[in-house]
Amino acid sequence: MSTTFNVAIIGAGGIANAHVGAIAGSKGRLALAGVVDPVAENRERLASAHSAQGFASTAELIKAVKAGSVSVDGAVVCTPPFARIEVIGSLLKAGIPVLSEKPLAHNSADSKKLATLARKHGKVFTAVGYCHRFTPAVLAMKQMALEGKIGRVVRFENFFACDLPGHQTKWFSDPKKAGGGAYIDMGSHSVDLFHFMVGPAKTVAALFDHKWPKRTETAATVLLKSAKANGKNMPAGLAGVIFSGWAETSRFTVSLVGTEGMLSYDYEKDGEIIFKDLLGKPTSMPIESCGVRFARQLEAFADAVQKKAKKTGLATFADGAAAADMVTKAAKLAAKG
Ligand SMILES: NC(=O)c1ccc[n+]([C@@H]2O[C@H](COP(=O)([O-])OP(=O)(O)OC[C@H]3O[C@@H](n4cnc5c(N)ncnc54)[C@H](O)[C@@H]3O)[C@@H](O)[C@H]2O)c1
Repeated sequence: MSTTFNVAIIGAGGIANAHVGAIAGSKGRLALAGVVDPVAENRERLASAHSAQGFASTAELIKAVKAGSVSVDGAVVCTPPFARIEVIGSLLKAGIPVLSEKPLAHNSADSKKLATLARKHGKVFTAVGYCHRFTPAVLAMKQMALEGKIGRVVRFENFFACDLPGHQTKWFSDPKKAGGGAYIDMGSHSVDLFHFMVGPAKTVAALFDHKWPKRTETAATVLLKSAKANGKNMPAGLAGVIFSGWAETSRFTVSLVGTEGMLSYDYEKDGEIIFKDLLGKPTSMPIESCGVRFARQLEAFADAVQKKAKKTGLATFADGAAAADMVTKAAKLAAKG
Protein backbone atom coordinates (compact mmCIF):
# COMPACT_ATOMS: atom_id res chain seq x y z
CA MET A 1 0.00 0.00 0.00
CA SER A 2 1.28 3.48 -0.89
CA THR A 3 1.92 5.65 2.17
CA THR A 4 1.24 8.85 0.22
CA PHE A 5 -1.85 10.58 1.62
CA ASN A 6 -3.86 12.23 -1.16
CA VAL A 7 -5.42 15.52 -0.09
CA ALA A 8 -8.26 17.50 -1.63
CA ILE A 9 -8.36 21.20 -0.73
CA ILE A 10 -11.88 22.63 -0.63
CA GLY A 11 -11.70 26.42 -0.86
CA ALA A 12 -8.59 27.76 -2.60
CA GLY A 13 -8.24 31.17 -0.89
CA GLY A 14 -5.67 32.57 1.51
CA ILE A 15 -5.23 29.76 4.04
CA ALA A 16 -5.19 27.04 1.38
CA ASN A 17 -1.64 28.23 0.60
CA ALA A 18 -0.44 27.22 4.10
CA HIS A 19 -1.82 23.69 3.62
CA VAL A 20 -0.47 23.38 0.09
CA GLY A 21 2.93 24.59 1.36
CA ALA A 22 2.83 21.82 4.00
CA ILE A 23 1.96 19.25 1.31
CA ALA A 24 4.78 20.48 -0.94
CA GLY A 25 7.31 20.21 1.91
CA SER A 26 6.21 16.73 3.03
CA LYS A 27 8.77 14.79 0.93
CA GLY A 28 6.06 12.67 -0.67
CA ARG A 29 4.13 11.81 2.52
CA LEU A 30 1.28 14.06 1.28
CA ALA A 31 0.13 14.89 -2.24
CA LEU A 32 -2.37 17.42 -3.59
CA ALA A 33 -4.90 15.41 -5.60
CA GLY A 34 -7.76 17.86 -6.08
CA VAL A 35 -8.75 21.48 -5.57
CA VAL A 36 -12.39 22.59 -5.25
CA ASP A 37 -13.44 26.23 -5.60
CA PRO A 38 -16.37 27.81 -7.44
CA VAL A 39 -13.98 30.61 -8.49
CA ALA A 40 -12.10 29.18 -11.48
CA GLU A 41 -9.11 31.50 -11.08
CA ASN A 42 -8.58 30.42 -7.46
CA ARG A 43 -8.82 26.67 -8.07
CA GLU A 44 -6.73 26.76 -11.25
CA ARG A 45 -3.94 28.76 -9.57
CA LEU A 46 -3.41 25.97 -7.02
CA ALA A 47 -4.34 22.98 -9.17
CA SER A 48 -2.10 23.84 -12.12
CA ALA A 49 0.90 24.72 -9.91
CA HIS A 50 0.71 21.27 -8.27
CA SER A 51 -0.55 19.09 -11.15
CA ALA A 52 -3.82 18.46 -9.31
CA GLN A 53 -7.35 18.28 -10.74
CA GLY A 54 -9.68 21.26 -10.32
CA PHE A 55 -13.40 21.00 -9.49
CA ALA A 56 -16.07 23.72 -9.35
CA SER A 57 -17.93 22.04 -6.46
CA THR A 58 -17.56 19.37 -3.78
CA ALA A 59 -20.30 17.38 -5.57
CA GLU A 60 -18.11 17.27 -8.71
CA LEU A 61 -15.11 16.11 -6.66
CA ILE A 62 -17.16 13.33 -5.02
CA LYS A 63 -18.48 12.24 -8.43
CA ALA A 64 -14.88 11.94 -9.70
CA VAL A 65 -13.82 10.01 -6.56
CA LYS A 66 -16.71 7.57 -7.06
CA ALA A 67 -15.84 7.19 -10.75
CA GLY A 68 -12.22 6.43 -9.77
CA SER A 69 -10.75 9.34 -11.76
CA VAL A 70 -9.22 10.93 -8.66
CA SER A 71 -8.00 9.32 -5.44
CA VAL A 72 -8.68 11.27 -2.22
CA ASP A 73 -7.73 10.05 1.27
CA GLY A 74 -8.86 13.20 3.09
CA ALA A 75 -10.19 16.70 2.49
CA VAL A 76 -8.99 19.95 4.05
CA VAL A 77 -11.96 22.32 4.13
CA CYS A 78 -10.81 25.93 3.74
CA THR A 79 -14.11 27.55 2.77
CA PRO A 80 -15.53 30.49 4.72
CA PRO A 81 -17.19 29.05 7.87
CA PHE A 82 -20.76 29.74 6.66
CA ALA A 83 -20.31 27.23 3.79
CA ARG A 84 -19.32 24.28 5.98
CA ILE A 85 -22.57 22.35 6.60
CA GLU A 86 -23.21 21.50 2.96
CA VAL A 87 -19.56 20.85 2.08
CA ILE A 88 -18.65 18.76 5.15
CA GLY A 89 -22.02 16.98 5.16
CA SER A 90 -21.51 15.73 1.60
CA LEU A 91 -17.86 14.73 2.24
CA LEU A 92 -18.81 12.67 5.31
CA LYS A 93 -21.72 11.04 3.45
CA ALA A 94 -19.21 10.01 0.76
CA GLY A 95 -16.89 8.57 3.45
CA ILE A 96 -14.13 11.18 2.94
CA PRO A 97 -12.27 12.18 6.16
CA VAL A 98 -12.32 15.92 6.92
CA LEU A 99 -9.90 18.38 8.47
CA SER A 100 -11.96 21.58 8.67
CA GLU A 101 -10.35 24.99 9.06
CA LYS A 102 -11.30 26.92 12.18
CA PRO A 103 -13.78 28.14 13.33
CA LEU A 104 -15.83 24.97 12.74
CA ALA A 105 -18.76 27.11 11.54
CA HIS A 106 -19.93 30.73 11.75
CA ASN A 107 -22.22 30.14 14.75
CA SER A 108 -22.95 27.72 17.59
CA ALA A 109 -26.00 26.18 15.88
CA ASP A 110 -24.10 25.11 12.75
CA SER A 111 -21.11 24.00 14.86
CA LYS A 112 -23.41 21.75 16.92
CA LYS A 113 -24.97 20.35 13.72
CA LEU A 114 -21.50 19.53 12.42
CA ALA A 115 -20.50 17.85 15.70
CA THR A 116 -23.70 15.78 15.44
CA LEU A 117 -22.91 14.88 11.82
CA ALA A 118 -19.39 13.80 12.88
CA ARG A 119 -20.90 11.51 15.54
CA LYS A 120 -23.40 10.12 13.01
CA HIS A 121 -20.54 9.30 10.59
CA GLY A 122 -18.33 8.10 13.46
CA LYS A 123 -16.22 5.81 11.22
CA VAL A 124 -15.13 8.76 9.04
CA PHE A 125 -12.34 10.75 10.73
CA THR A 126 -13.01 14.44 11.44
CA ALA A 127 -10.92 17.21 13.03
CA VAL A 128 -10.76 21.00 13.24
CA GLY A 129 -7.62 22.87 12.21
CA TYR A 130 -6.83 24.64 15.46
CA CYS A 131 -3.22 24.64 14.30
CA HIS A 132 -1.70 26.32 17.38
CA ARG A 133 -2.04 22.94 19.11
CA PHE A 134 0.93 22.00 16.88
CA THR A 135 3.12 25.00 17.74
CA PRO A 136 6.15 23.42 19.48
CA ALA A 137 6.34 26.25 22.05
CA VAL A 138 2.69 25.71 23.06
CA LEU A 139 3.30 22.00 23.64
CA ALA A 140 6.53 22.64 25.60
CA MET A 141 4.99 25.41 27.77
CA LYS A 142 1.98 23.25 28.59
CA GLN A 143 4.26 20.37 29.63
CA MET A 144 6.53 22.61 31.75
CA ALA A 145 3.55 24.26 33.48
CA LEU A 146 1.94 20.89 34.26
CA GLU A 147 5.27 19.74 35.75
CA GLY A 148 5.40 22.79 38.07
CA LYS A 149 8.10 24.92 36.38
CA ILE A 150 6.18 28.12 37.26
CA GLY A 151 4.50 26.86 40.45
CA ARG A 152 0.70 27.14 40.55
CA VAL A 153 -0.58 28.66 37.30
CA VAL A 154 -2.70 31.75 37.95
CA ARG A 155 -3.21 33.21 34.48
CA PHE A 156 -3.17 32.40 30.73
CA GLU A 157 -2.53 35.47 28.57
CA ASN A 158 -2.87 35.45 24.79
CA PHE A 159 -2.63 38.19 22.17
CA PHE A 160 -3.53 37.39 18.56
CA ALA A 161 -3.82 40.85 17.05
CA CYS A 162 -2.61 42.85 14.07
CA ASP A 163 -3.74 45.39 11.48
CA LEU A 164 -5.86 43.83 8.72
CA PRO A 165 -7.50 46.81 6.94
CA GLY A 166 -8.46 44.58 3.99
CA HIS A 167 -10.90 42.65 6.21
CA GLN A 168 -13.23 45.67 6.22
CA THR A 169 -14.52 44.79 2.74
CA LYS A 170 -14.32 40.98 2.94
CA TRP A 171 -16.79 38.34 4.19
CA PHE A 172 -14.73 38.18 7.40
CA SER A 173 -16.39 41.37 8.76
CA ASP A 174 -19.81 41.04 7.08
CA PRO A 175 -22.31 40.75 9.98
CA LYS A 176 -24.73 38.78 7.75
CA LYS A 177 -22.14 36.15 6.86
CA ALA A 178 -19.26 35.89 9.30
CA GLY A 179 -21.09 35.26 12.59
CA GLY A 180 -18.65 37.57 14.37
CA GLY A 181 -15.44 39.52 13.82
CA ALA A 182 -12.00 39.54 15.41
CA TYR A 183 -13.15 37.27 18.25
CA ILE A 184 -14.56 34.43 16.15
CA ASP A 185 -11.59 34.76 13.79
CA MET A 186 -8.52 35.27 16.01
CA GLY A 187 -10.17 34.67 19.40
CA SER A 188 -11.50 31.22 18.52
CA HIS A 189 -7.84 30.14 18.20
CA SER A 190 -7.24 31.62 21.67
CA VAL A 191 -10.26 29.89 23.22
CA ASP A 192 -9.12 26.57 21.78
CA LEU A 193 -5.58 27.23 23.09
CA PHE A 194 -7.01 27.78 26.58
CA HIS A 195 -9.03 24.54 26.29
CA PHE A 196 -5.91 22.71 25.06
CA MET A 197 -3.36 24.10 27.52
CA VAL A 198 -5.50 24.60 30.62
CA GLY A 199 -8.86 22.83 30.19
CA PRO A 200 -12.57 23.59 29.85
CA ALA A 201 -13.58 27.16 30.62
CA LYS A 202 -16.37 29.63 31.24
CA THR A 203 -16.54 33.09 29.69
CA VAL A 204 -16.79 35.66 32.50
CA ALA A 205 -16.65 39.05 30.75
CA ALA A 206 -16.17 40.50 27.29
CA LEU A 207 -15.70 43.95 25.77
CA PHE A 208 -15.76 44.42 21.98
CA ASP A 209 -14.73 47.47 19.95
CA HIS A 210 -16.05 48.37 16.47
CA LYS A 211 -13.73 50.51 14.37
CA TRP A 212 -15.60 49.94 11.09
CA PRO A 213 -19.20 51.22 10.77
CA LYS A 214 -21.81 48.50 10.11
CA ARG A 215 -19.19 45.75 10.24
CA THR A 216 -18.37 43.17 12.92
CA GLU A 217 -16.12 43.91 15.92
CA THR A 218 -12.48 44.72 15.25
CA ALA A 219 -11.24 44.14 18.81
CA ALA A 220 -12.19 41.85 21.68
CA THR A 221 -10.92 41.70 25.27
CA VAL A 222 -12.28 38.62 27.01
CA LEU A 223 -11.90 37.13 30.48
CA LEU A 224 -12.17 33.35 30.93
CA LYS A 225 -12.13 31.17 34.03
CA SER A 226 -11.08 27.51 33.99
CA ALA A 227 -13.94 25.18 34.93
CA LYS A 228 -11.88 22.18 36.01
CA ALA A 229 -8.47 21.45 37.55
CA ASN A 230 -5.79 20.10 35.18
CA GLY A 231 -3.34 18.36 37.50
CA LYS A 232 -2.14 19.92 40.75
CA ASN A 233 -0.50 22.98 39.16
CA MET A 234 -3.52 24.17 37.15
CA PRO A 235 -6.42 24.44 39.61
CA ALA A 236 -10.00 25.21 38.65
CA GLY A 237 -10.78 28.91 38.54
CA LEU A 238 -7.55 30.14 36.97
CA ALA A 239 -7.93 33.18 34.71
CA GLY A 240 -7.50 33.51 30.98
CA VAL A 241 -7.23 36.90 29.30
CA ILE A 242 -7.66 36.98 25.53
CA PHE A 243 -6.88 39.96 23.32
CA SER A 244 -8.05 39.67 19.70
CA GLY A 245 -7.65 42.45 17.17
CA TRP A 246 -7.87 43.25 13.47
CA ALA A 247 -7.12 46.96 13.63
CA GLU A 248 -4.23 47.42 16.01
CA THR A 249 -0.50 46.96 16.46
CA SER A 250 0.71 43.44 15.81
CA ARG A 251 1.15 41.15 18.82
CA PHE A 252 1.16 37.34 18.72
CA THR A 253 2.11 36.03 22.13
CA VAL A 254 1.06 33.34 24.59
CA SER A 255 2.09 33.36 28.25
CA LEU A 256 1.42 31.29 31.35
CA VAL A 257 1.90 33.17 34.62
CA GLY A 258 2.47 31.25 37.85
CA THR A 259 3.31 31.73 41.52
CA GLU A 260 7.01 30.93 40.84
CA GLY A 261 7.56 32.68 37.51
CA MET A 262 6.21 32.84 33.98
CA LEU A 263 6.69 31.29 30.55
CA SER A 264 6.11 33.25 27.38
CA TYR A 265 6.41 32.80 23.65
CA ASP A 266 6.40 35.48 20.98
CA TYR A 267 5.50 34.21 17.49
CA GLU A 268 7.21 37.29 16.06
CA LYS A 269 10.51 36.47 17.85
CA ASP A 270 10.33 32.83 16.92
CA GLY A 271 12.77 30.23 18.23
CA GLU A 272 12.72 30.73 21.99
CA ILE A 273 10.51 30.36 25.04
CA ILE A 274 11.35 32.86 27.79
CA PHE A 275 11.16 31.82 31.44
CA LYS A 276 11.19 34.74 33.87
CA ASP A 277 11.55 34.29 37.63
CA LEU A 278 9.57 36.45 40.06
CA LEU A 279 12.25 39.19 39.87
CA GLY A 280 11.94 39.23 36.07
CA LYS A 281 15.32 37.58 35.35
CA PRO A 282 14.94 35.99 31.90
CA THR A 283 16.20 32.61 30.74
CA SER A 284 15.89 31.79 27.05
CA MET A 285 15.04 28.22 26.04
CA PRO A 286 15.46 27.34 22.34
CA ILE A 287 12.39 25.89 20.64
CA GLU A 288 11.52 24.76 17.12
CA SER A 289 9.76 27.33 14.91
CA CYS A 290 5.97 27.81 14.95
CA GLY A 291 6.27 27.50 11.15
CA VAL A 292 5.99 23.71 11.43
CA ARG A 293 2.41 23.81 12.77
CA PHE A 294 0.50 23.34 9.50
CA ALA A 295 2.78 20.49 8.39
CA ARG A 296 2.54 18.71 11.76
CA GLN A 297 -1.24 19.14 11.74
CA LEU A 298 -1.61 17.62 8.26
CA GLU A 299 0.72 14.73 9.13
CA ALA A 300 -1.39 14.07 12.25
CA PHE A 301 -4.51 14.05 10.04
CA ALA A 302 -2.88 11.59 7.61
CA ASP A 303 -1.70 9.36 10.49
CA ALA A 304 -5.16 9.39 12.07
CA VAL A 305 -6.77 8.26 8.81
CA GLN A 306 -4.15 5.85 7.45
CA LYS A 307 -2.60 4.43 10.63
CA LYS A 308 -5.70 4.80 12.84
CA ALA A 309 -3.51 6.73 15.30
CA LYS A 310 -5.41 7.19 18.55
CA LYS A 311 -3.69 10.20 20.18
CA THR A 312 -3.77 12.59 17.22
CA GLY A 313 -3.31 15.92 19.04
CA LEU A 314 -5.97 17.36 16.71
CA ALA A 315 -9.04 19.28 17.87
CA THR A 316 -12.23 17.27 17.44
CA PHE A 317 -15.54 18.58 16.06
CA ALA A 318 -16.79 18.49 19.69
CA ASP A 319 -13.85 20.80 20.57
CA GLY A 320 -14.87 23.02 17.66
CA ALA A 321 -18.45 23.21 18.96
CA ALA A 322 -17.17 23.99 22.48
CA ALA A 323 -15.07 26.89 21.15
CA ALA A 324 -18.11 28.14 19.18
CA ASP A 325 -20.25 28.18 22.34
CA MET A 326 -17.58 30.27 24.10
CA VAL A 327 -17.49 32.74 21.19
CA THR A 328 -21.29 33.07 21.27
CA LYS A 329 -21.26 33.66 25.04
CA ALA A 330 -18.60 36.39 24.71
CA ALA A 331 -20.63 38.14 21.98
CA LYS A 332 -23.71 38.10 24.25
CA LEU A 333 -21.76 39.54 27.21
CA ALA A 334 -20.18 42.20 24.98
CA ALA A 335 -23.61 43.18 23.60
CA LYS A 336 -24.88 43.71 27.17
CA GLY A 337 -22.00 46.14 27.75
N1 LIG B 1 -5.57 28.35 10.86
C1 LIG B 1 -5.29 29.62 10.62
O1 LIG B 1 -4.35 30.18 11.19
C2 LIG B 1 -6.15 30.38 9.64
C3 LIG B 1 -5.64 31.54 9.04
C4 LIG B 1 -6.46 32.19 8.10
C5 LIG B 1 -7.73 31.71 7.81
N2 LIG B 1 -8.20 30.60 8.45
C6 LIG B 1 -9.57 30.11 8.23
O2 LIG B 1 -9.66 29.50 6.95
C7 LIG B 1 -10.95 29.73 6.39
C8 LIG B 1 -10.80 30.39 5.03
O3 LIG B 1 -10.11 31.61 5.19
P1 LIG B 1 -9.35 32.30 3.95
O4 LIG B 1 -8.56 33.40 4.51
O5 LIG B 1 -8.65 31.28 3.14
O6 LIG B 1 -10.61 32.87 3.15
P2 LIG B 1 -10.66 33.31 1.61
O7 LIG B 1 -11.86 34.15 1.45
O8 LIG B 1 -9.34 33.84 1.20
O9 LIG B 1 -10.86 31.91 0.83
C9 LIG B 1 -12.03 31.17 0.85
C10 LIG B 1 -12.14 30.41 -0.46
O10 LIG B 1 -13.24 29.49 -0.36
C11 LIG B 1 -13.93 29.52 -1.61
N3 LIG B 1 -15.29 29.02 -1.39
C12 LIG B 1 -16.39 29.69 -0.96
N4 LIG B 1 -17.45 28.84 -0.88
C13 LIG B 1 -17.00 27.61 -1.27
C14 LIG B 1 -17.60 26.35 -1.41
N5 LIG B 1 -18.89 26.15 -1.12
N6 LIG B 1 -16.84 25.32 -1.85
C15 LIG B 1 -15.53 25.50 -2.15
N7 LIG B 1 -14.90 26.69 -2.03
C16 LIG B 1 -15.63 27.72 -1.59
C17 LIG B 1 -13.85 30.97 -2.05
O11 LIG B 1 -14.11 31.12 -3.45
C18 LIG B 1 -12.41 31.32 -1.68
O12 LIG B 1 -11.50 31.01 -2.72
C19 LIG B 1 -11.69 30.59 7.42
O13 LIG B 1 -12.49 29.76 8.23
C20 LIG B 1 -10.59 31.23 8.23
O14 LIG B 1 -10.98 31.55 9.55
C21 LIG B 1 -7.42 29.92 9.33
